[in-house]
Amino acid sequence: MEKKNIDWGNIGFGYMEADYRYVSYYKDGKWDDGALVTDPNITLNECACVFQYAQTVFEGLKAYTTEDGHIVCFRPDLNASRMVDSAKRLVMPPFPEDRFIDAVKQVVKANAAWVPPFGSGATLYIRPYLMGINSVIGVKPADEYMFRILVTPVGPYFKGGAKPITIKVSDYDRAAPHGTGDIKAGLNYAMSLRPIMKAHEEGFAENMYLDAASRTKVEETGGANFIFITKDGTLVTPKSDSILPSITRRSIMVVAEKYLGMKVEHREVYFDELKDFAECGLCGTAAVISPVGKINDHGKEICFPAGMEEMGPYTKKLYDTLTGIQMGKIEAPEGWICTIE
Ligand code: PLP
Ligand code: COI
Repeated sequence: MEKKNIDWGNIGFGYMEADYRYVSYYKDGKWDDGALVTDPNITLNECACVFQYAQTVFEGLKAYTTEDGHIVCFRPDLNASRMVDSAKRLVMPPFPEDRFIDAVKQVVKANAAWVPPFGSGATLYIRPYLMGINSVIGVKPADEYMFRILVTPVGPYFKGGAKPITIKVSDYDRAAPHGTGDIKAGLNYAMSLRPIMKAHEEGFAENMYLDAASRTKVEETGGANFIFITKDGTLVTPKSDSILPSITRRSIMVVAEKYLGMKVEHREVYFDELKDFAECGLCGTAAVISPVGKINDHGKEICFPAGMEEMGPYTKKLYDTLTGIQMGKIEAPEGWICTIE
């Protein structure tokens, strides 16, 4: 397969228009057969529910080229089932999980030339999304829906690659006004646009959101869950019903325990505990594992001693093992790797 002529090592986290996208429509109570199409544009009625009431949910996963030249993706079954949960929360007909996986395979295979080569530092980001498309003016769900998948090659989510970032404690809540953050829905993310712009203007890479009720517990950032390492090498990661159940975080918990023999705690994490942790990182499909060096709490800094200049030692081990599994260098637990070609 002839790859596209792209400087893979120097691309950021942006959108490039690949050759194919997948589309399926829901009408009269059922999904059609779906197809690959070439047109990247969508034409919809001005009153489509997605425009008026943001009835849209999405997912995010990646395809990787392994050392021996296969194209694989990582745990797409978990994206398929999380998208069902997101869809139900927004009263949308879920796209069937087996068809989701099949559609991911089809669209990645068709765009094989866009899957960055092994070792390039880039990967193919896969963005499935679902929206209400018929006209709706009273507040109610649509009757007709479109499910699509676009793909785009991406590099590191945070500028500077593996360099530790500084984040700030946000005064905003992560969740949308009428909902919770535990779904990947358009409105959740729209509500986080002002906080992220504010953080960037102030020189921070991301926001740390605290729990809305008491503002004493750590939730997540705008696009990733948190992992912390205690001074004695335990992985601690926040448990909350209002954060996105990150597939990367769930995978890291298994990697830490089963591959690295670490103790793992999935529990409520109080902001006051942060000063005692040795390492901090953000985890997600886009973020992979990105080290956090400093957290700024309204001018007061919390610095993580092991990760100010580079990834701390435990974060690095987790990163190497997780990405080793994703890129086919380390044997994966059963069912984690889905081979596309
Ligand atoms: N939290 C939020 C708000 C996200 O947008 C993401 C990205 O998808 C994550 C966490 C990480 O989830 P995952 O590891 O499934 O990509
Ligand atoms: C992902 O990691 O897939 C996300 O949706 C995060 C987003 C900030 C790009």
